[in-house]
Amino acid sequence: MLDNTEFEFDDVQGIVHFAHAHMVETCFLLLKIRDSALAKKWLAQAPVTTAEKSPETSRPETALQIAFTAAGLQKLGVKETVIAGFSNEFLSGMTSANRSRRLGDIGNNAPEYWDWGGSEEDIPDALLMLYAVKNGLDAWKQQVTGQQFEQAFIQKFLPTNTRVKDEPFGFADGISQPAIDWHREQSTDTHRRDQYSNLLAAGEIVLGYPNEYGYYTDRPLITSADDGPADILPGAEDNPRLKDLGRNGTYLVLRQLQQDVPGFWKYVDQAADGDTKNRKKLAAAMVGRKRDGTSLMPTVKGDVAGTPEKHSKLNNFNYAADPKGQVCPVGAHIRRSNPRTGDFPPDVAGPISRLIRTLGFGRDSPTEDLVASTRFHRMLRRGRPYGLRLKPADAVAAIDDRDERGLQFICLCGNISRQFEFVQNAWIVNGKFDGLQDETDPLLGNRQPLMDGGPTDNFSIPQFSGPRMPQFVTVRGGAYFFLPGIRALKYVAESAGPGK
Ligand code: HEM
Repeated sequence: MLDNTEFEFDDVQGIVHFAHAHMVETCFLLLKIRDSALAKKWLAQAPVTTAEKSPETSRPETALQIAFTAAGLQKLGVKETVIAGFSNEFLSGMTSANRSRRLGDIGNNAPEYWDWGGSEEDIPDALLMLYAVKNGLDAWKQQVTGQQFEQAFIQKFLPTNTRVKDEPFGFADGISQPAIDWHREQSTDTHRRDQYSNLLAAGEIVLGYPNEYGYYTDRPLITSADDGPADILPGAEDNPRLKDLGRNGTYLVLRQLQQDVPGFWKYVDQAADGDTKNRKKLAAAMVGRKRDGTSLMPTVKGDVAGTPEKHSKLNNFNYAADPKGQVCPVGAHIRRSNPRTGDFPPDVAGPISRLIRTLGFGRDSPTEDLVASTRFHRMLRRGRPYGLRLKPADAVAAIDDRDERGLQFICLCGNISRQFEFVQNAWIVNGKFDGLQDETDPLLGNRQPLMDGGPTDNFSIPQFSGPRMPQFVTVRGGAYFFLPGIRALKYVAESAGPGK
């Protein structure tokens, strides 16, 4: 087993390992490069926070993390041939052809209505994320974004607030996260894993390490000549003759999701005939958890592998005993976004039925495969909410409330297409999911009809038939970023070409 210090935490940005939840103040800045030489100079000295744990840094009071779009890397002088080694989704961006339909970015979610990122000129070059403990942000911001920064970048602020533990509809958030197998304790071959496990191969999140298939995710591997005389980048584990620009980096997906909090609670109230108890029940059914985070599924004693101790009470469960959604609706947000299955559907138990499945026989329904093997579709969520708090009772009573609230949804993953895009497309906005026909995610669905005209605004919950659902969440912006490792950042700032 590898020792803690052997994972290169000093080369990984802190946000990959920690949610920075104790740093309640944040400033997210979308940056456009005004002057690439100055931008590179600023980047070369930027105090980027690493994931290294030491007595001094285990609970830092401030943090700085930075990520780039493909356009940003290009402006900073990274060669086209090197950039071409990143994944297609990253290169073509969140709004490229066909992608919008797949992500549900149609109707009033369409990029043409976004506040940022919706058109090519509007795609940021970089995302700067500053974090600080209470009352620490102003000083931190001043310290890191002085005159040189202002000359180097045009800035656009994204709103955030300091309520890190719940999201604007009022539910506890950030409870379920995959645990990363930093020490390579769990096998990553394509063996058939019966049980849901929360422990995930490092390569599912961090580039340059084996993923759940036991493979290394594609990323730019470059020659020593391209690395330059400073020889900054590490060798690739799977191809030591080449240098690994991806190692210890990850992809970062950012989507600004505006939440209609009065709309949500008014709908729930109407569906519950104004009964407060039923209102709570229905809202919990839509999420899959009560507002305090308690899961609707009973938690089990013992381990769901990889569940951090502090969350085991809220997170030790799966849906195997509830295939029809009698306890937690099949379409509840957390069940859609992580169905918690092993590599086989729940009814496949003994060795013979497993063999039949492995050979490709015995599938009852073509939708089954969409919910098997959740281990290939996990992500680390690192978002922050924005807007003023509105309690459910006040939301129900609200008249003409125009305050904007929502989530700066951020997730990290090694493969945007297999992780974020798959979950968003196949599980969240797909009208057909695990036997459900005419509904999308109760929180996130855009309620646009299917290609064949079929509806998507239902919500199947036993003993309930409420009014059709309106849309509660609207996309306001988004982009795909690369969050580099520390050496990769140094390469971008100091070694790649002169910039444009
Ligand atoms: C405004 C938008 C959203 C809201 C209000 C929201 C709300 C929530 C809440 C309340 C939870 C339960 C807390 C927890 O388990 O940590 C949760 C979990 C989760 N959400 Fe969302 N979410 C939003 C957007 C998204 C998006 C866009 C995705 C992915 C494409 C996503 C993926 C997940 C995942 C993977 C979980 C954990 C499920 C589990 O492991 O059990 N969410 N979300």
